[in-house]
This record gives sequence, structure tokens and C-alpha cells, in this order.
Amino acid sequence: MKNKKVVAVAIAVLTTAAAAGMIALGGDKNNSADGMNNTEISQTENNPATQENSSQPAAVANQASTIEVGIEDYAYKPAAIRVKAGTTVRWTNRDSVEHNVVADQKSSDAPLSELLAKGKSYSFTFNKVGTYSYHCAPHPYMKGTVIVE
Ligand code: CO
Repeated sequence: MKNKKVVAVAIAVLTTAAAAGMIALGGDKNNSADGMNNTEISQTENNPATQENSSQPAAVANQASTIEVGIEDYAYKPAAIRVKAGTTVRWTNRDSVEHNVVADQKSSDAPLSELLAKGKSYSFTFNKVGTYSYHCAPHPYMKGTVIVE
């Protein structure tokens, strides 16, 4: 008998909750039928989207102004990077063999390093928008690209 009472009470509680839920849903439906409330809802939906959009350029602006590229196992890592104009890229050789960074199309806007011994770095600041492919002079199959936006 006690168990039946508990079940009955539980059903009563659930029924009450469901009824309350239906009432709440009904209230929402009534509100959204109101033109003023619809406007408020669409504004609430638009605001986070606007904030996201405006934060994207900020995230790019907050990017580190120096990007590291490793030279390891006869490869540039990462081989392709995308940076903002004004970004400095620093290549560091981690191989025992000497490597360098030579732009495929030589220009004052493109990188050109001496041969780098193990542990040595070369930095170049990309100020001009463009796509800069480069290679290692002693190992022309070592290729990399910097896309400057
Ligand atoms: Co090399």
C-alpha cells in the first residue's frame, strides 16, 4: 500500500510539473505572438553574432608578432604559414646539417639568410602582402611558403 501511495504521489508531481511546463510553454507562445517580444528575441540573437564578428579581427590583431618555424629533418615546420603584414618569422635550424632560407624570387621584401648552423636562427619581417615561397639552397627540395595578408 505504501508503495502505491509513493507511485501515486510521484505521478501527481510529474503531472503537476508537466502541467506547469505546458503553462510555461503556452506563456512563451503568447509572448512570441506579441510583436514587441519578437523584436527583443531577434536582437538577443543578433548581438552575440555581432560580438563574434567584431572579435575575429581582434583575435588576428592579438596574434604574436613573431612566428617560429623550425628547420628539422630537412624540412621547414610548418612548411606553410599565413601571417599578417608586419609579422616577423623566425626560422631556427635544429638539424646538424646547415640549412638556409632563400626566397624563390629574390627581393628586399623576401627572406634571404646565410647558412644556419644547428641552433642558429634567422628572422625576417614580412611587410608586404603576398605569397613568398622559399627553399634551402643546399637542399632545393626543402620548400616553404609564407602567405602575408
Ligand atoms: Co637544407
